[in-house]
Amino acid sequence: MSDTATLSRLFSTIDQDLEVVDHTFQERATSGLELLNSAATHALNSPGKRLRTALTLLSGKLINYRFEKLLPLSVAFEMVHLATLVHDDIIDNASTRRGLPTVNARYGNNVAILLGDYLFAKTAGLIAEVEDFRIDRLFSETVATVCEGTIFELLSSHRMDLSIDHYLERINYKTACLISACCKGGAIVGGGTDAQIALMTQYGVNLGIAFQIVDDILDYTGSPTTIGKPTGNDLRQGLVTLPLLYALRNEQNGRVERVERIMNQKKPSDAEIDTVVRWVNATNAISESLELARHYAARATALLSEFPASPERAVLMEVVDFVVERSR
Ligand code: IPE
Ligand code: IPE
Ligand code: MG
Ligand code: MG
Repeated sequence: MSDTATLSRLFSTIDQDLEVVDHTFQERATSGLELLNSAATHALNSPGKRLRTALTLLSGKLINYRFEKLLPLSVAFEMVHLATLVHDDIIDNASTRRGLPTVNARYGNNVAILLGDYLFAKTAGLIAEVEDFRIDRLFSETVATVCEGTIFELLSSHRMDLSIDHYLERINYKTACLISACCKGGAIVGGGTDAQIALMTQYGVNLGIAFQIVDDILDYTGSPTTIGKPTGNDLRQGLVTLPLLYALRNEQNGRVERVERIMNQKKPSDAEIDTVVRWVNATNAISESLELARHYAARATALLSEFPASPERAVLMEVVDFVVERSR
């Protein structure tokens, strides 16, 4: 089954509400200003997987489904995600996203910076509509942590001596934190107990770590048409991720120095990047990385099993499998 088909099956119980979320997103993300509007419309033309939206709704539904509050919350989380992607593509110098030219490629960095800021600003209004100070705090802390994670990433670029623990901490800050906030926020709005909120927070952290490990694997193994964004781009940006860390771990014969030399160039050639990608694929690094992703996925599932069985719990468990098995 294709990823798109799996997602539409998984989200079938919330598909009408997802449409309302999409519609509200469009409405709230657009501006009266023509240039901003056209950049926003461009960024929305090709939707993503809407994982953050679905996690927010499903985590609320697991406890008590208050859609009127979950609506602004899920739109806000998906919008923050899009804002971080728009900014991330500038930092990563990426040319495609979701199968289309990035906002920076199409409109230039200045417009992309401003569109990201505009989306961040709009999320504040959506969060106010939830009318819960715990959500205000969660939101502010989450956005700040994602920024810190991105700064960690800048600071650790080209560091072949990065430890696995440091890598995990970095992806926790940069990615798992937002995914966890969706689950925690949904549980808060659903009126969960402290114990339920804590379980959903940890479910999200473990799911988010598995998610980013797989994203990092796909940068080595994926096809640009399927994932809708360039492959090998982490290497090109000097970003050391789990597959490379595992591949380098047992390496001798001067390979570390050779990889370092390629990555330290200002603009490594496609052929050089391809050589490293192929080498990593030829080692056990990909299956070891997948194994670590499965370890976090299993933790996420175990946390969910603390909840009584329900259709929502079953979907949230299947989301874990999807995150590990996906090809985009
Ligand atoms: C991409 O996230 C950014 C990461 C945190 C790796 P997604 O893969 O969820 O992006 P979309 O929303 O589906 O495009
Ligand atoms: C993005 O991680 C995480 C953000 C906080 C935006 P990546 O840099 O791996 O995301 P992609 O691969 O560009 O989607
Ligand atoms: Mg990126
Ligand atoms: Mg990536």
